[in-house]
Amino acid sequence: MRKPLIVGNWKMNNSTAESVDLAEKLKKTVKDMAGVEVVVAPPFTALGSVRDAIKGSNIKLSAQNVFWEDKGAYTGEVSPLMIRDLDCEYVIIGHSERREYFKESDEIVNKKIKAALRNKLKAIVCVGESLKEREEDKTMQVIESQIRKGLEGILNSELRTTNHEVRLVIAYEPVWAIGTGRNATPSQANEVHAYIRKLLSQIFNEDIASNIKILYGGSVKPSNSAELMSEKEIDGALVGGASLDTDSFAQIVRSACMV
Ligand code: 13P
Repeated sequence: MRKPLIVGNWKMNNSTAESVDLAEKLKKTVKDMAGVEVVVAPPFTALGSVRDAIKGSNIKLSAQNVFWEDKGAYTGEVSPLMIRDLDCEYVIIGHSERREYFKESDEIVNKKIKAALRNKLKAIVCVGESLKEREEDKTMQVIESQIRKGLEGILNSELRTTNHEVRLVIAYEPVWAIGTGRNATPSQANEVHAYIRKLLSQIFNEDIASNIKILYGGSVKPSNSAELMSEKEIDGALVGGASLDTDSFAQIVRSACMV
């Protein structure tokens, strides 16, 4: 049984003070919500302050990106060691905004996942098709290619933690549903999730593959989260816009506790 996971991706929003304010409000709102794992991904500049704000709560910390080397002359980049140093447990890798605006290829995504795993971070790896690809009926082909290339060369042993968790989460985020208000229907998402699960069981052993959580992302909001979460193959959500509002995010977390 996979415990539901809700991740708030704050993207490039909020000053440090605003981030701390949001984290503190959230800490109070979700404190009694059991049976669900809650993670926030503030911008790099606010990670340290948010880490302090959520100390002792049931909220965990994620970075939104990472570089693939541990240190060196890479001006402006942030290494997995630095992220660990800020007590991040998770890191988001291969978000479609990074693939699109920063030309992150599957090869880059693969290097970043390996760097995260080497440093004992849990990687939340994003995959998803564009509108054009969906209309051309290429969704499964695109997903398969992103999953196989992104996870190439990663061993079962690299994913297993000491407390029987798995260091990999997949987020299915159809590009046409991100920030558009247009979400995939629960059955559309479930179909892709089932396909991802099948691919994972071809790549990893059954014990690992069956424990990898698959999240849905793309215009998740309180009005659609319960329905999405009730689908068998949807283990949680990667939430953008709605995670910037305490009440909306808390309602989404609540809908995952009730599954
Ligand atoms: P929205 O929830 O704003 O559509 O963003 C989804 C997303 O990209 C989360 O990573």
